[in-house]
Amino acid sequence: MADVKLVVLPRIHDPRGNLTFIEGNQHIPFSIQRVYYLYGVPGGATRGGHAHKELQQLIIAASGSFDVILDDGFERRKYTLNRPNMGLYIPQLVWRELENFSSGSVCLVMASLPYSEDDYYREFQDFKNAAQPQQNKRGE
Ligand code: TYD
Repeated sequence: MADVKLVVLPRIHDPRGNLTFIEGNQHIPFSIQRVYYLYGVPGGATRGGHAHKELQQLIIAASGSFDVILDDGFERRKYTLNRPNMGLYIPQLVWRELENFSSGSVCLVMASLPYSEDDYYREFQDFKNAAQPQQNKRGE
């Protein structure tokens, strides 16, 4: 599966609770240029359903839980995120779908680039056409 990675983030725990932090190029292999978050997602809703040409992301369940289904053009894998100090690193050219959001969950995303609609593949076949030659070049 491409270079997808589960990243354990630092957690400073004391009697007042937990603190987790993320530094660009330290805990993740990119500079953070954008942060966004999904919240108030109704039960049964699916988010995502696209891939990115250049964008790299780290996805965190800041509260609650949800599933992230990833497809690199060859293989499909499901990750359940349910810990605020666990991030899922997603490199470019990976199709993602997010589903099974628990009530009150918050999906926090660190992104390597500002928002650009031109960076999206919103059709699975367009993504697949782009992803497969890349991987064949790498001999996978
Ligand atoms: P989209 O990326 O399709 O949402 P998701 O993957 O979470 O299901 O974005 C939904 C809408 O929000 C779309 O119209 C683009 C807009 N948007 C921005 O304007 N800026 C952003 O940073 C993001 C992530 C989305």
